[in-house]
Amino acid sequence: MGICGSPNATHGYAAEVHNTGEWQALIAHREALEGRHLRDLFDHDPSRGERLVAETDGLLLDYSKNRLTDETIELLAALADRTGLRGRIEALLDGEPVNTTENRRAWHGALRQPKPPPEVRQELDRLAAFAAEARDGRWQAVVNIGIGGSDLGPAMAAAALDAYADTELEARFLSNVDGAHFHEVTRGLDPARTLFIVVSKTFTTVETLANARTARVWIADAVGEHEASSHFAAVTANPAKAQEFVTDRGSVFAMWDWVGGRYSLGSAVGLSLMIAVGPDAFAELLAGMHHIDAHFRTAPWAENLPALLGLIGIWNRNFWDWPTYAVLPYSQALTLFPAYIQQLDMESNGKSVRADGTPAGIATGPVVWGQPGTTGQHAFHQLLHQGTDVVPVEFIGFCRANHGLGQHHDLLMANLFAQAEALAFGASDTGDPHRRFSGNRPSSIILSDQLTPRSLGQLVALYEHKVFTQATVWGINPFDQWGVELGKTLATGIAAELTGAAEPDPSRDSSTQSLINRYAGSRGSVTR
Ligand code: F6P
Repeated sequence: MGICGSPNATHGYAAEVHNTGEWQALIAHREALEGRHLRDLFDHDPSRGERLVAETDGLLLDYSKNRLTDETIELLAALADRTGLRGRIEALLDGEPVNTTENRRAWHGALRQPKPPPEVRQELDRLAAFAAEARDGRWQAVVNIGIGGSDLGPAMAAAALDAYADTELEARFLSNVDGAHFHEVTRGLDPARTLFIVVSKTFTTVETLANARTARVWIADAVGEHEASSHFAAVTANPAKAQEFVTDRGSVFAMWDWVGGRYSLGSAVGLSLMIAVGPDAFAELLAGMHHIDAHFRTAPWAENLPALLGLIGIWNRNFWDWPTYAVLPYSQALTLFPAYIQQLDMESNGKSVRADGTPAGIATGPVVWGQPGTTGQHAFHQLLHQGTDVVPVEFIGFCRANHGLGQHHDLLMANLFAQAEALAFGASDTGDPHRRFSGNRPSSIILSDQLTPRSLGQLVALYEHKVFTQATVWGINPFDQWGVELGKTLATGIAAELTGAAEPDPSRDSSTQSLINRYAGSRGSVTR
């Protein structure tokens, strides 16, 4: 077990990591690297591009274009040991209550075990049977109604694996409470041939319930009240509340309190994906996740892709003080992957208090952003190359395309490689300050053979465990999200006032109250 206060209070989470010798050694090492350019590092050691890589099951991580040396990796590995990362991984994957503030397991690893716990096996069999029936031609579309982890995972995966969607049935995703989203998502759909899956772990999320109720009216207006319920399924840890929409318990699927929303793609939350690509492809997704779980548990740190990605992220965040990083998939199919990683990373590690309740004392979760390449090159790469801030980049690419346009793929991948090269090495100075490319801007390249259900599962687990690695070193609990509660509470109060169910709060600030008054005064006049 790593350094910690009373183990029972923090259940092994590290504390005061910045006061360890390992942390201090990294500070000294960072100072020693000051002024070293990636050009120098490669000149000094031309083979580093072949050595500073790690690979497992067709997934390659090339981390040589980061501002680091072999010594850096050794010092980061020592930090991992000091903070008890190996023991934490075992606790995570063995289903111990690592979610300390909610006293729960974070056992998403169980969802993809080859021989999972009986309740998981049973639910997977139920889901497969339901998906097989849903794919039999009755439905034109399946619409997932959910938000956050009840949307981002399946939406991202359905887009990523569109090439594997082998039915006429279309998967769509409704998340925003903005009515425009309901109209957009249902546009062109026949209510009589539309299946809704209401996904909500708590079944109390305002946006999801509002959308589900509107969907039910939309269906009932078309097929009648009696028939309406057969157009709904539900995924929840609170089945009693699902009965408002689903009367047939055979269409209610379990998610357990030990699966966090942003870690739930491998659970029944993935039902819309399973319907789109079929149970066999979904099983491949789970197998890819499990491979990375096993790799994360056993691989030495210098060969451990999630640990390396996490530790290098800490090196960039805490020792180079870079507050953001960009996830740039050179894959249009991974359009939603950056948004998915935003929740996974920022809702897990966007915290300033350690698991033991003490202040973090150091920088924690970075800001994550990104868009697919090559599109982003025409939007924000100017800043990446010549901005005053350095932004570490995580590129994701695939050797084989899922389409037949080979020349397009060559152009796509040529751009990925070129961007990483330009960021790292820049260009020789022409004397024109406007055309100066300083280089020395770090990136990691994740290169997979092909985007398949299995490799997508690998990528998802890779990032889940990257986030866990960083939380372990920082000593924070990545599995709760108390930070989202205040906004929800305030919105509930304002919404009650807007519907006349409550009087205005006299203690409210003048800005918020003026805005509410203006909105309330003008909304009636808006006709469209
Ligand atoms: O964003 C807060 C959050 O609780 C997420 O963690 C969760 O994935 C999302 O809202 C939806 O919650 P539920 O699945 O309970 O509707």
